[in-house]
Amino acid sequence: MAVRRLAPKELQPASFAFSEENLAWAKGQIAKYPEGRQASAVIPILWRAQEQANGWISEAAIRVVADMLAMPYIRVLEVATFYTQFQLQPVGKKAHIQVCGTTPCQLRGSDALFDVCRHRIHHDPFQISADGDFSWEEVECLGACVNAPMVLIGNDTYEDLTKDSFGKLLDGFASGNPAKPGPQNGRQFSAPIGGITTLKSNGASKTAKPAKEPVLADAEAKMPGAAANTQERPAPKPPAGDATGKKGKKGKTS
Ligand code: FES
Repeated sequence: MAVRRLAPKELQPASFAFSEENLAWAKGQIAKYPEGRQASAVIPILWRAQEQANGWISEAAIRVVADMLAMPYIRVLEVATFYTQFQLQPVGKKAHIQVCGTTPCQLRGSDALFDVCRHRIHHDPFQISADGDFSWEEVECLGACVNAPMVLIGNDTYEDLTKDSFGKLLDGFASGNPAKPGPQNGRQFSAPIGGITTLKSNGASKTAKPAKEPVLADAEAKMPGAAANTQERPAPKPPAGDATGKKGKKGKTS
């Protein structure tokens, strides 16, 4: 893990201001929290600042976000330097690649992905490629170990990578046609690569109706660039008992 510090002064812009649209969005986020708790909006607002400023957070942006949320500058600096999702120096115009190098990904071939980065982007992490389009870094586990090895680019993870498929992924970003996020070996989410091996039929029940759609539909996958929580899901079922918290009749004993 690299030491996370702000970019040197010569790279820092003199100022930062949210666009009108982003400012309205940020105010909407802040309004979600009770009076005195506006600091809870710091991560989404920093993220929006990063998206607006070509993928990285400047010192000026940190000060603007802190002022909006009535937070000490040091508190926002702590957040920006703690989470590796925030970039603290300029990154490639088309993609900043975060390669997971933690044990499961390493055992499944992340070293080959680092080699691709070193040869195609730059020998060293956090350096921008000669054409200005790409940069890369090593990060710790990103929570997709079952689909190792994987990389995070912006909002999206690309999983089950090999040297070849990772090369094609970079080609896609270079040409402005990035691949669909998720597994790059054809499997559905983290299901077995050859298709499901269990629950293949409901023959045990003659009365059960056959499912019209697979349990996991590709249509449910999030769209590239969209936040994961924008997926449409059925409303969660309430816990046993009714909405008032009273126990249902089944809970009674005689
Ligand atoms: S070890 Fe790479 S995603 Fe968890």
